[in-house]
Amino acid sequence: MSLSVYKVWDVPTRIFHWLNVVCVLGLMAIGTVILNADSLGVTNDGKVILKTTHVLVGYVFALNLLWRLIWAFVGGKYARWASILPFGSGYTEKLKHELREMRLGRTVNYRGHTPLGRIAVTVLLLTLTVQAATGLILAGTDVYMPPFGGVIAENIAAQGLDPSEVRPYAPETVDPEAYAQMREFRSPVIQTHELMYFVLIGLIALHLFAVVATELKHGGNIISAMFTGRKILNSPPADADE
Ligand code: HEM
Repeated sequence: MSLSVYKVWDVPTRIFHWLNVVCVLGLMAIGTVILNADSLGVTNDGKVILKTTHVLVGYVFALNLLWRLIWAFVGGKYARWASILPFGSGYTEKLKHELREMRLGRTVNYRGHTPLGRIAVTVLLLTLTVQAATGLILAGTDVYMPPFGGVIAENIAAQGLDPSEVRPYAPETVDPEAYAQMREFRSPVIQTHELMYFVLIGLIALHLFAVVATELKHGGNIISAMFTGRKILNSPPADADE
């Protein structure tokens, strides 16, 4: 069997991937504690520290993600939307072919994402984007941090109080009616953020299972390719000449 080496993941894509892994794991860990803060007996001061730390890691996560979404317009061929989104000419045929081969216990080599992998990556990027957007809103409504914290504090500050004095868990610094309205607006945002956290746990488990199973069953070192940028394939990839 002859093996060939193919360059696939460019440096920005690999940096995004591993920085994203670190941020998402950190956000999940802190998020789990926030979610269970009351049963863990965390004080209000402790909650503010947890949420502030979560938001600071969240900024790195959101900027890294934004950069990846831009890179998908300008980056290398396999990092682009055309190689990610599950549409485009012949996509359905390629997907059917991959599924057929899978049922037969065979694999179709791709230099970039396989058709099935494209669905997985799209859903992951979408979920991460929802998590970044809802998180940035929560940063404003919960701990009055940028980008929306200033405008929210202005709207809910207690009569005669400077908005910069508005503090989390300090009801005396807010106007009760305006605060209640803001919390009502926030409600679907936190519900979405919480739901996506559970969806992400499922997606990450699926992602890990898929890459480990592919690596063990078919080789092609797709895990180390995300470190080295290179895949080693035993037959020419189906997307070689696209
Ligand atoms: C993969 C990304 C993320 C995950 C998995 C995640 C997870 C979580 C979880 C599980 C909670 C607790 C929800 C609850 O108490 O009901 C939470 C709360 C929160 N998250 Fe995130 N988060 C992510 C990204 C972000 C980002 C990017 C930001 C902002 C920059 C952010 C800001 C917040 C804030 C302010 C809260 C507190 C809301 C509250 O409980 O009152 N999150 N997050």
